[in-house]
Amino acid sequence: MKLMKIGIDKIGFATSDLYLDMVDLANARHEDPNKYLIGIGQSKMAVIRPTQDVVTMAAAAAKKIICQEDKEKISYVIFATESGVDNSKSAAIYLADLLGLKLNIRTIEVKQACYGATAALQLAKGYVALNPESKVLVIGADNARYGVKTPGEPTQGGGAIAMIIGSDPKILELENETSAYAKNIMDFWRPLGHSKALVDGKYSSGVYLDFLKNVWDEQLKRTNYQLQDYGALLFHLPYTKMGLKGLRQILQDATAEDSTRLIREFEYARQFNCEVGNLYTGSLYLSFLSLLVNSTSIKSGDRIGFFSYGSGAQAEFFTGILQPDYQKGLAGVDYWAILNKRQSVSVIEYEDLFERHVFDIENIELDYQADKSAFLLAGIHNYKRKYLSR
Ligand code: HMG
Repeated sequence: MKLMKIGIDKIGFATSDLYLDMVDLANARHEDPNKYLIGIGQSKMAVIRPTQDVVTMAAAAAKKIICQEDKEKISYVIFATESGVDNSKSAAIYLADLLGLKLNIRTIEVKQACYGATAALQLAKGYVALNPESKVLVIGADNARYGVKTPGEPTQGGGAIAMIIGSDPKILELENETSAYAKNIMDFWRPLGHSKALVDGKYSSGVYLDFLKNVWDEQLKRTNYQLQDYGALLFHLPYTKMGLKGLRQILQDATAEDSTRLIREFEYARQFNCEVGNLYTGSLYLSFLSLLVNSTSIKSGDRIGFFSYGSGAQAEFFTGILQPDYQKGLAGVDYWAILNKRQSVSVIEYEDLFERHVFDIENIELDYQADKSAFLLAGIHNYKRKYLSR
């Protein structure tokens, strides 16, 4: 019996049309720019307009990849976010409406910090195994907010990843063996009613590496895949230097050949993240997209390793095999053109936009004329959010 392949059929990405240059931020905070550019590993940070949120960014990401056939086959929308817009109603319902999906579908939101999109991906895989004709739309969308003049400030960002999960996928076949690890710790959290995360930054970076060691060692026991069996290793990237630290930990006893190959692919895989900052749930998958778009050396049949980490904390290491048609799953979108077309804002403008961000402000009419995006939050009235598409 031929086993059915299940995995990522298409992947799309959207972020703000505004960004802050990290050199400008460093100068304003009296830091050496190289601390942000090299020490943190970020060159630009997405700045989110008040008229944008996880729903609008997810709609923009999904619109880039969804065709009519997908619309007919999508029967489940799983929206991973830790920047949800309602305590009860899922962002997936707003999204399905904005995209014009059919009504006889399931729509849910899932949460476990930055791990959420991996949970969504694994849920989708199980669903497709039982419903091979169906497709699942998986979203990882967030707005990473620590606050102006906080240590976490240079690691902010935002955007959305949309993935279509199905059988016979164009991009990546997910392999079955995975290693997960969960432990109740306080490294990063956002209490109810807070619009900014609280974080024990240095502790969180140490825990990330501990969890990585745990799931990497476990996966080695389960699969016996060695470094030479991987075409690339990808990491959750809260800031890109964090992933580099993770990779260096794994490469401690590597041969020169493995080390050179995996560092080279990591450099391709962090290019988009350097431009945008932390996407929380979407970060690992933006790194995957960055690898697919920018690497000139990965090829069909390569095994890709994924380290997913979400504070609180939950980690998982899983793998997939790159498929022959993986370029087709990118739907011909020119991401460098989109990123290069963004408009830069000054530090003062960023601070103003940051503080004007709305979460639960009542009776607000938003001035959306300046925002040329296809999907917009136009206002909140009687605690009801009003979205527009154009
Ligand atoms: P900090 O205290 O401002 O920075 O906070 P630092 O003093 O540790 O410096 C950062 C790095 O820059 C260091 O390198 C310095 O040596 C280097 P490292 O020792 O780490 O390799 N440096 C320089 N390099 C070159 N030239 C220079 C220079 N000066 C200094 N001139 C911190 C940094 C990341 C802690 C902070 O920004 C923060 O708290 N960020 C938020 C927390 C975070 O991102 N944690 C990551 C792990 S937790 C996670 O991934 C989950 C998360 O995504 C949330 C979720 O799951 O939902 C956050």
